[in-house]
Amino acid sequence: MPSRERYLFVCTNRRPDDHPKGSCAARGSEELLKELKAELLRTKAADRFRACGATCLDACESGAAVLLEPEHVILEGVSVADVPRIVRALHEGTPAKVSKPEDPR
Ligand code: FES
Repeated sequence: MPSRERYLFVCTNRRPDDHPKGSCAARGSEELLKELKAELLRTKAADRFRACGATCLDACESGAAVLLEPEHVILEGVSVADVPRIVRALHEGTPAKVSKPEDPR
């Protein structure tokens, strides 16, 4: 399989619910990863972009965190609701501009 144009590493680290740092899995990142994969398939982009599970990206307090490569940008506070916007930005070639989920675009 050739390498993809971009990779989305979704932190699916889970800590106990009472852990002070929290965790991305507790903020819905496992469902987020599933939805990103599904949206890439729906938009016929799975051969260009890949969403993968990852361990802690050290952005725990603002998770769910997604590392975008090769831009080397961490998207913070990402939720399932952001998936269409993120995938649309991938198709438009501007995913690094998706720095905050609440950015109007
Ligand atoms: S638990 Fe997700 S960045 Fe640390």
